[in-house]
Amino acid sequence: MVTILEVDQNKKKFVSVRWKLISTYLLLILITLIVINLVICKTVFNIYIEQEKNNSFSKANIISNRVRHQLSNDRMDEKWVQVSIDDYSKEINSRIIIVDNSNIVQLDSHNSFLGEKFYHDEIKAALRGENSSGIYNFKQSGRVMYIAVPVILNDEVVGATFLSRSIDHIYYEVRHIWRKLELISVVSMAITAIVVFFLAGVIFRPLNDLKYTINKVTQGNFKEKVHVYSNDEFKEVAEAFNMMISKLEEVDNQRKDFVANVSHELRTPLTSIKILSESLINQDTFDQDIYKEFLIDIDSEVDRLNNIISDLLVLVNLDKEKLVLDKKITYINYLLEKIIFRMKVIAKQKDIDLNLKLNEKIQIKIDEDKIQQAIINIIDNAIKYTDIKGTIEVELYKKDKYAIIKISDNGSGIPEESLEHIFERFYRVDKARSRNTGGTGLGLSIAWEIIAYHGGIIDVESQLGIGTDFYIKLPLKN
Ligand SMILES: Nc1ncnc2c1ncn2[C@@H]1O[C@H](COP(=O)(O)OP(=O)(O)OP(=O)(O)O)[C@@H](O)[C@H]1O
Ligand SMILES: [Mg+2]
Repeated sequence: MVTILEVDQNKKKFVSVRWKLISTYLLLILITLIVINLVICKTVFNIYIEQEKNNSFSKANIISNRVRHQLSNDRMDEKWVQVSIDDYSKEINSRIIIVDNSNIVQLDSHNSFLGEKFYHDEIKAALRGENSSGIYNFKQSGRVMYIAVPVILNDEVVGATFLSRSIDHIYYEVRHIWRKLELISVVSMAITAIVVFFLAGVIFRPLNDLKYTINKVTQGNFKEKVHVYSNDEFKEVAEAFNMMISKLEEVDNQRKDFVANVSHELRTPLTSIKILSESLINQDTFDQDIYKEFLIDIDSEVDRLNNIISDLLVLVNLDKEKLVLDKKITYINYLLEKIIFRMKVIAKQKDIDLNLKLNEKIQIKIDEDKIQQAIINIIDNAIKYTDIKGTIEVELYKKDKYAIIKISDNGSGIPEESLEHIFERFYRVDKARSRNTGGTGLGLSIAWEIIAYHGGIIDVESQLGIGTDFYIKLPLKN
């Protein structure tokens, strides 16, 4: 249930990544377009204004040239001057004002300032002999451009020509260009959004495959694999995921095998007990010897069941994630002497010579009980798989960074192809023989896990019919 929920969340995340990509692209494009459009409009505006100004300057200069004699001789009231300036004013669509060098208006195409003093920054500059211009915004008449040029006669400034002209059409023109650019921007953003939408679909398709496979794996189908044909990060994720599925499959198979093995191992002694007890129940006569014999068999099967269950419990405890080892500094020498003393009793039953060779005193930090169990499991094997009157040598020495406990026997040996399996749970080389000796195939896997928990390893060398050497290697320093 939880997994389905997670898969659903993944789906949400997937969609949002697509939209995040689109919105990021759109935002970037929007900012870029706004900046570009502003620059374009500003440049066009400046070009228009510059053109307008130059145009007006040359027109004002033409007027100045026409009227300079009249202005210096005080003959501005001549009819032709009035008429031609009025006509020209209409022609160039500007108000024309001409002032003498005392700022008095000598001619006004609108006639309203005639004879009055007319001050303006532009006129002041023109009377100093400079061309001058300015842009103003009036509520009633809108945006206007003022320009003024000097009227010069015989190198002397005799007055100034002033032009005032509406430039609203320039603003209108620029606004029109801005609208066109806006339209182009909206269209290009829409195209970008569509392209990114489909592109994101292609880019994130591997995620869809991954989601599909996760769903399959969630349903227990470990055969499903993610296929990514691109050569990018998604491929790496897919490969890592496929590896994870393989590992999960392996673990699942191990679990199934383990349950099957446990059931099988428990069933064998139970079947024997059932057969033995049924035969006793079905006996017509009471034969004490037979009863005793059968009960001894039942007793040994119960022992076997007990052994299997206690081994399984040891394994389960070792499997617990946070296994806490009770580590103490221990002399391996004394530990080995104690173990050999106990095991000699068992070895004696098969007339096996069990010897201990201690080369040096070695002290390391271990969980004594657990290490003892591992060593016993291996010596127990040596005794079990060595014939009567055999010899077992146990030796302790240091090599590299390890304390090594070597257990050698001259027993049956292990075939080469079995060597890599003997540490697996329930693995036995000769099932029939092991069963006779009471083995379940758990002893070595328990020993392996205990040594691994201590940071060590177990090596094995064996020759069929000659004997086997086990090396328990424990790091001297943890
Ligand atoms: N010293 C040895 N000589 C020959 N074969 C061995 C030796 N030690 C282990 N083996 C083989 O490895 C197998 C696995 O050993 P392991 O100790 O795990 O299981 P077991 O001895 O059969 O059962 P138990 O769980 O009671 O120990 C054994 O069944 C045996 O075939
Ligand atoms: Mg064993």
